[in-house]
Amino acid sequence: MDYFCAMIYLTKRERFNAAHRLFQPAWSEAQNREIFGKCANLNYHGHNYELYVTVKGLPNPETGFIVNAHLLGKVIREAIIEKVDHRNLNIDVEFMAGILPSTENFVKAIWDTLLPHIFGCELHCIKLTETENIYAEYYG
Ligand code: NI
Repeated sequence: MDYFCAMIYLTKRERFNAAHRLFQPAWSEAQNREIFGKCANLNYHGHNYELYVTVKGLPNPETGFIVNAHLLGKVIREAIIEKVDHRNLNIDVEFMAGILPSTENFVKAIWDTLLPHIFGCELHCIKLTETENIYAEYYG
């Protein structure tokens, strides 16, 4: 493959913490407890999330960058982090309204919210870790 045609993937990490509760209002407390375990606790609980945003593109011949990583970080912080950090995902976050805040649903909602803000490169993947033992990835 020609060196200058090789697609490069760049990942930016941002961190935030947020509270949530997993439950289905239509279910009984016992049913919620059975499916969601401690995540169904009435008064919410928190996670230290890590968000990995991977973009792809061709390196600019002059800068060697596919995107200005500083600007990409700024876009992620303005579009996502400022809306979710130190918030309750069930209550406070407009783009999560009516969405059960599982890691799977949350990563897709982040993609949908961030996508219109990505410029000069292509959004490839968003990975969201909820704990060190579990994460979800979405490729659009
Ligand atoms: Ni949880």
